[in-house]
Amino acid sequence: MATIFITREIPESGLKLLEKHKLIVNPAPRPVTRQELVEGLKEADALLCMLVDKVDREVIESAPRLKIVANMAVGVDNIDIEACTERGIVVTNTPGVLTEATADLTWALLLAVARRVVEGDRYVREGKFNGWAPLLLVGADLHGKTLGIIGMGRIGQAVARRALGFGMNIVYYQRRRLPLHSEQELKATYLPLDDVIREADFLTLHLPYYPEVHHLINRERLNLMKPTAYLINTARGAHIDEQALVEHLRARKIAGAALDVYEREPHLTPGLAELDNVVLAPHTGSASASTRSLMAEMAALSIVQVLGGEKPEHVVNPEVLGRE
Ligand code: GLV
Ligand code: GLV
Repeated sequence: MATIFITREIPESGLKLLEKHKLIVNPAPRPVTRQELVEGLKEADALLCMLVDKVDREVIESAPRLKIVANMAVGVDNIDIEACTERGIVVTNTPGVLTEATADLTWALLLAVARRVVEGDRYVREGKFNGWAPLLLVGADLHGKTLGIIGMGRIGQAVARRALGFGMNIVYYQRRRLPLHSEQELKATYLPLDDVIREADFLTLHLPYYPEVHHLINRERLNLMKPTAYLINTARGAHIDEQALVEHLRARKIAGAALDVYEREPHLTPGLAELDNVVLAPHTGSASASTRSLMAEMAALSIVQVLGGEKPEHVVNPEVLGRE
C-alpha cells in the first residue's frame, strides 16, 4: 500500500480511484503551507497537488520516496520539472478535460466586460435602476470585431471555435503556426505577435507560463493595443505586467480587461479592484463540476498508473519513463 499526499480536498470521484492506498488529505480550507507540504512528502510515494502548491527543488529533495507529482491542472509552472526529472519523478498534468470549460469562462469574461454585465448587476442591486435609458451602460459589440488570440493550443482553438458563432474575425499568434487545414477550419489568420496585439478589438491569452513569456504583455505592448480594445486573461497572471495594466486601464488607454488570473495570485495589484472597466474572477477557468471531477480523476489515475508501473496518458517529462 502506497502513501499518497493530496494537498486539498478534491472531488470524490478522484479519491475513489485511490481508495486502496493510504491517503493523507489536507483537511484545511486553504492551500497547504510549505512546511505541511515538506512534512507530508516525507513518507509519500505520490503527490496529488494543485497549481497553487510550489513544488520546487527543495521540496522535491525533501521527498525520498516520491515517484510521481500529479498536478490537478494543465499548467505546470508551479513545479520544478527539471528537479523532478533528475530524481526520476514523473510529472503529470490534466490537459484536454478542461479545454471547453476554460474556453467557456473566457467567453463569459469577454462578454461580461464588453457588455458591462458586472457593472449592471451592481447597478441594479444598489437600487439605481429606474427604467430603460438610451445611454445606460452602453458597451461594445462583438460581431464584426477582431479577436486576437495569443497561444493557439487546445484552449485557444476552443475559444476560436466559439468566436465563429459571434461573427468575429480571428487573428492569432503562437510560436508554432497551425497547419493550414486548422487555420482554414477556424478561419484564423496567423500574424506576428505585435500585429495581433495591434489589430485585436479583444485580445485573449492562452499560452502556458514559462520564464521567457514573463510580462509578454508589458507596457510597450499595452501601448500597441487600440484604445477601444479589451484584454482577457484566463492563462497565467504573470503574462501581463499588472502594474502597467492598472495604469493603462486607469488612463483609459484601453477600454477594459477581464482577468481570471493574477501576477501575484491571490493578491491583486493595488488599484485594480477599484477600476470599473475590469471584471475579476477568482481563477475559475476550469471550475465546472464535471470538469473538476474529470481533472481529479485524471490526476488520480496517473498516480495509480505510475505506482502500478504503467505509463499515464499525460506525462510532462516522458524522458523519465523512457530511461528504464
Ligand atoms: C488552471 O489554471 C490550470 O492550469 O489547470
Ligand atoms: C489545454 O487543454 C491546453 O493544453 O491548451
